[in-house]
Amino acid sequence: MSWIVRLQKSSLGSKYIMAITGAGLFLFLVGHIAGNLLLYFGFEAFNAYAYALQHLPYGLLWIARGGLLVMTIAHVYIAYRLSFHNRAARPQRYQYEATLQASFASRTMPYTGTVVLLFILFHLAHFTLHLVGYDGPYTDPVGRHDVYKMVVTSFQNPVYSLLYIVSMAVIGFHLSHGLSSMWQSLGLNHQKYNLFFRKVTPLIGWVVCIAAASIPLSVLIGIIK
Ligand code: HEM
Repeated sequence: MSWIVRLQKSSLGSKYIMAITGAGLFLFLVGHIAGNLLLYFGFEAFNAYAYALQHLPYGLLWIARGGLLVMTIAHVYIAYRLSFHNRAARPQRYQYEATLQASFASRTMPYTGTVVLLFILFHLAHFTLHLVGYDGPYTDPVGRHDVYKMVVTSFQNPVYSLLYIVSMAVIGFHLSHGLSSMWQSLGLNHQKYNLFFRKVTPLIGWVVCIAAASIPLSVLIGIIK
């Protein structure tokens, strides 16, 4: 275990951990949003998918949850440490130049990251723990938890749908910078592939967030009902 402690204390190691945990969390998001797009295919398809996930064999659900938790804690802990470090190390007179050079998305990473974290906590309280905005229990005609009805009923309330749409926009900004800087952190900065590293991967991040935002929007305008 001591190698992990040494790795996360070095600046190169910190960047590696940020990139790898960020990539892992992004892959989860791609799968999660792809699954949620089944909402467009009706309650049967979506509830069957949600039921299958909740009943994965060999404790796989809890293994995946454990992995997500570890990646989130590592990503957030190192992000805040690096951000405090940078702030303390940056001489005041360079601040103006540095601000000019960095993009809007890169300058706002600690803030958009904080919003992502707050969104995840709210989202878990909403759809997983049912502590807010839940009027269930909902049961579908074959006796499963009616996750379709839970999501649709929630997003019919404009307060929740707008909250999700705005959160997806913030996540889009966070991913657009995270996904392009990830390659540099991993040392994969080859001129031949720079178009893919710098332009295509951030675009994939935006596509995922737009697909996610389309769900509350589609409920709000009655495409999903
Ligand atoms: C409009 C977009 C989204 C929809 C409709 C949605 C829907 C859901 C639903 C229905 C659940 C509960 C599943 C169940 O208990 O059966 C869930 C869980 C979860 N969602 Fe989302 N989600 C969205 C966006 C996101 C985003 C952007 C993230 C991360 C940044 C995220 C992270 C999670 C996590 C971590 C869980 C808990 C998984 C578990 O351990 O059970 N979701 N989501």
